[in-house]
Parts: sequence; C-alpha cells; structure tokens
Amino acid sequence: MAGQEIKEYFNATENREIRSDLTFAVNHVGDLKIAIDCGCGAGADIQYLSAMGFKVYGFDIEDESISRCKNRFKNNQDIVLSQAGFNSFEYPRASLVVADASLFFCPKIDFESAWRSIYECLYPKGIFCGSFLGPDDTMAGLEYDKSAFWPDILIFDEKEVREIFKDYEIFRFIEHKSSGKTPQGIAHDWHIFSVVAKKLNNSCKKNA
Ligand SMILES: C[S@@+](CC[C@H](N)C(=O)[O-])C[C@H]1O[C@@H](n2cnc3c(N)ncnc32)[C@H](O)[C@@H]1O
Repeated sequence: MAGQEIKEYFNATENREIRSDLTFAVNHVGDLKIAIDCGCGAGADIQYLSAMGFKVYGFDIEDESISRCKNRFKNNQDIVLSQAGFNSFEYPRASLVVADASLFFCPKIDFESAWRSIYECLYPKGIFCGSFLGPDDTMAGLEYDKSAFWPDILIFDEKEVREIFKDYEIFRFIEHKSSGKTPQGIAHDWHIFSVVAKKLNNSCKKNA
C-alpha cells in the first residue's frame, strides 16, 4: 500500500508537463511506434505517447501507480499495464524505452540486468529516453530520508552514465542542476543527467 507521500506525488504529476527530451525522442522513432514506460508513475508520459500514436507498455513497482493507470486508460486497448519491478518485467520488443526519474530507484544489484533487458528489447535503431540521478542531488545525500518514497537510490556520475551508453549513439546528453521545491513544496537540489540515445545496429549482446 502506497504511503501518503507517494499518493501526493502521483496526484501532483499525473498531468505534468511533458519533458522536451521525450518530445525530442519521439521525433527520432521510425514508423513502428511501440514504447515501454519503465516506472510509469501516474501515467503522464503514457498519456502523451498514446496521443502520439504509440502502443504503450507501462510498468511500475507500485500498485498505486498501476491501479491509477488502469483506471485512467481503461478504454484504451493499446495501453498494457503491469505491476512489476525493473527485473521482473518481461520486456516486449519496442522502438522506444522511456525511464524518466525511475532508474533513480532501481536497486543497484538489479541495474546491470535491467539495463541489458532494456538494450535487448529495443529494436535496432530504437531510442532510449531517460534520466539518471547525479551525486549532488538531495536524494543522494546521507541525510535524505528514504522511507517516504522508494528505498533504493542509484547514483551515477557523468563518466558512469556515458559508459553505460557505449552501445548507443547519444543524441542528447544534458546535466540538470537546480534548486527549488518538489511538487509537495519541499526544498530540493536536483542533479540529473537526462539522455536520449539510439541503439547502435549491433547484433544481440545477450551472450556477449
Ligand atoms: C519519480 S517517479 C517517476 C514517475 C514517472 N516516470 C514520471 O516521470 O512521472 C519514480 C517511479 O518509479 C517507480 N519505481 C520505483 N522503484 C521501482 C522499481 N524497482 N521498478 C519499477 N518502478 C519503480 C515508482 O513507483 C515511481 O512511479
């Protein structure tokens, strides 16, 4: 059962503005429009992708997210929702994988396998659009209270982010640093790397 903070976060973000990275990424997807939204939250990106003509597979570890999205998109056959984590989700083939502010919470031990699954599910020339938490973010600090939201925090520095994209061509790499307040009104320093990249046309790397 989701805590109050998570419900408030989903309330505050369900109709949030679509980030420019995603509109940019969508413009780089070819004719086949199949997207996966990893950690789909309240469904803002699903709504946008569906409106852009995508079949969308959304998954999230939170029952609150998936029950909201099931209700929100109940009349849309082209939106498939699963309650799953990064490592339990069965990734269908896709031309776009979105992971906006969700890999922040992937348990470190699961990341390598999740990242491989994302790579493998993408068709050649498929697009990844997502973000990674930097070390100067409030959430990366020792004093950050992890109990209200998701307990695992995964931090990357710029070199580490660039390294995991060695099998992609990076189209857009932006380091975001700012200070302000969260949708719940709490002071926060943000440090985020957002990336849009194209899978290189290599053979499958599963057994490499
Ligand atoms: C900051 S929210 C972002 C939600 C959405 N992507 C957005 O941008 O509006 C992070 C999301 O990741 C989900 N999440 C956290 N840990 C996860 C995990 N291990 N596997 C899948 N989703 C996870 C949360 O439930 C939450 O919906």
